[in-house]
Amino acid sequence: MFGLGTLSRVVGEVRRDVAAAHARDPAARGAGSGEILTSWPGVQAVLAHRVAHGLHAMGVPLLPRTLSMVSRTWTGIEIHPAATIGQGFFIDHGAGVVIGETAEIGNDVTLYQGVTLGGTGFQTGKRHPTLEDNVTVGAGAKLLGAITVGHGAKVGANSVVINDVPPNTTVVGNPGHPVRVEGKPVEGPDTDWIHLPDPIADAITRLSARIAELEGEVSRLAGSEREHVAEVRPLRPAQGPSPAGG
Ligand SMILES: CC(C)(COP(=O)(O)OP(=O)(O)OC[C@H]1O[C@@H](n2cnc3c(N)ncnc32)[C@H](O)[C@@H]1OP(=O)(O)O)[C@@H](O)C(=O)NCCC(=O)NCCS
Repeated sequence: MFGLGTLSRVVGEVRRDVAAAHARDPAARGAGSGEILTSWPGVQAVLAHRVAHGLHAMGVPLLPRTLSMVSRTWTGIEIHPAATIGQGFFIDHGAGVVIGETAEIGNDVTLYQGVTLGGTGFQTGKRHPTLEDNVTVGAGAKLLGAITVGHGAKVGANSVVINDVPPNTTVVGNPGHPVRVEGKPVEGPDTDWIHLPDPIADAITRLSARIAELEGEVSRLAGSEREHVAEVRPLRPAQGPSPAGG
């Protein structure tokens, strides 16, 4: 059942999972492999899953689900034993991650805490997402249904994604919508979902400008030199947040 070939494959997978933590978690840079294996819940959950998945594939009853449940209790990460996971998979922080039965995950994928790869209802068959190689999913994102997230795509923290994501695309928001393709902002009349009109902010800006104008007028009538009494600041940040890590 377990030959030398299986053993060397498992050792190779463990090495690559630990290397993924080293490479993608800035907090792991000074940590040795032993420390990562004993203290990184994301790495422990993936290792437990690799064993549970192997037993599940061999048709062993009960044990895979039990192992998955123990791992969930220990790490806060729930991975169904049937879920398919490639090499170099890294879950940072981990708590609250749920990976469903028919989820398929490629190589070198990264998930942050609170990510759900879930179904949308009570249907059977393939009903969970497929993540191709090098996908990154931000904290709290929910990916629902039998969608495909293309290789190299990024999903923003707290996004809700229910449609396919093309390769090398960044999606954010609820519903998840593309804001970058191949690193460039998306183009076209209906593609800018980030800079939506904000009538309340616009009205406050106009009122602030009028107050500044009136205060200037009052100052001039009172013989004061000051022309601009009130300062009008832009209400929207000019820059979005940088992708976080660690
Ligand atoms: C989605 C993400 C990968 C984008 O990174 P990026 O490719 O460098 O793109 P930018 O930061 O330039 O963001 C692109 C636009 O989307 C917006 N945006 C970014 N992340 C967003 C999010 N999670 N929700 C809503 N809007 C978001 C930005 O404001 C920016 O808008 P702008 O065009 O007006 O500037 C990143 O913001 C993110 O969410 N990473 C997850 C990090 C995480 O979960 N960390 C947990 C550590 S414990």
